[in-house]
Amino acid sequence: MFFLFVLADWSELPNQILESVLERLDLLADYVRFSVVCRSWNFIAKDNRKKRVKMPCCHPPPMLLINTDIGDIWKVYNVTDDKLLDLQVRVPNTRFCGSSKGWLIFVENDFTVTLINPFFRVRGRVEKENSIIHLPPLRLIKEIDMSRVRHERYVYKATISADPVLNANECIVVVITQPGYQLAFIRLGKDRAWSYIDGRARGRGFDEVIFLGGKFYGVRNNGRLLSLEITRFSFNRKLAARSLRRDHTIKSYLVYSNKKELLMVERHISFDRKNDMRTTSKFIIYKLNFDECKWTKKNSLGGETLFLGDNSSFSVISSSFPGCLRNCIYFTHDYDWFRSKFGPRGPNDFGVYDVEDESFLSIDSTKASMLVKMSLQPSIWILPTFQL
Ligand SMILES: *[C@@H]1O[C@H](CO)[C@@H](O)[C@H](O)[C@H]1NC(C)=O
Ligand SMILES: *[C@@H]1O[C@H](CO)[C@@H](O)[C@H](O)[C@H]1NC(C)=O
Repeated sequence: MFFLFVLADWSELPNQILESVLERLDLLADYVRFSVVCRSWNFIAKDNRKKRVKMPCCHPPPMLLINTDIGDIWKVYNVTDDKLLDLQVRVPNTRFCGSSKGWLIFVENDFTVTLINPFFRVRGRVEKENSIIHLPPLRLIKEIDMSRVRHERYVYKATISADPVLNANECIVVVITQPGYQLAFIRLGKDRAWSYIDGRARGRGFDEVIFLGGKFYGVRNNGRLLSLEITRFSFNRKLAARSLRRDHTIKSYLVYSNKKELLMVERHISFDRKNDMRTTSKFIIYKLNFDECKWTKKNSLGGETLFLGDNSSFSVISSSFPGCLRNCIYFTHDYDWFRSKFGPRGPNDFGVYDVEDESFLSIDSTKASMLVKMSLQPSIWILPTFQL
């Protein structure tokens, strides 16, 4: 234990004392230990953590996890100093359908959905026990021939609303299943099965989802944005924005900016079918006008940096991380819906885009680029929530 009190009832300790103890804890491990002592400590830890997450000094920079194809070993690449970390993490050699709040999400071969925290796993026992959470299995769609669906691809995208250990009561997991593009959610520790939101009919499925202010926002296949609020027994849905143009050469990502704007980032992709190559040609950014239910174009990121991948998109304030390029989009190659493998050149469509200059910066010389191209699984962005 990191400190010792001679008091009989620890849960009665004054908040100021607890706060000052918390301020001295830098490791997530200690935080987890602290927050599992009792209810009132858990409450203080949660509150303190919300404050901290806003303080950039306590946040390691965004990292790219790169699969090595050697067992379950993944390399960690620090984008801000172009270095691979000495530390390697052990998470399954599989496709991750989501990366959210420092956790990765994947589907196991019995179709259970699992949350794993890669950085807990390199630490001691307490964290290891807390580093993996198995959720109930997804219901399989009957009309689909399951022998043709691989479990790793059953979920297209997944996200969580809160940290499943430190804030378990508020943690909702949402997934979009690949066949049918149906949305399903589960409340951690409260529900024993997944609840499904319609969308099997053609053009009514979902292809993006994000949590924002107690609701989640989903983009329908027809481009409409819906807001969905989960109530105790059901959910309310409302149209939040009309469609933008959509076709298979455009991938759309929802990102919540630090300025509290909901952004839709369109990635325009061109395909060279002869050489089986894919290239990103441009990005267009829109922000949502909540009152008018409309998207308006934006020509700058106003000092933020975006990290985009199909299932892991987030925004950071550039100046909080020296080395993080301002007003730029860092993007990775992700699979295309009509193609199940990368082309002969591997995952080559990744780089950095300068939004104000409308130009691409080459990152072919970076240490990570060779590794990324050789990897068999898509690389995935992760924003660790504590010092590594
Ligand atoms: C990543 O790079 C930045 C910039 O050089 C550095 O400050 C930070 O400590 C690095 N983080 C890790 C975990 O290596
Ligand atoms: C995101 O989802 C797509 C669609 O299922 C998948 O093919 C891709 O591998 C995922 N991307 C990442 C970075 O995991």
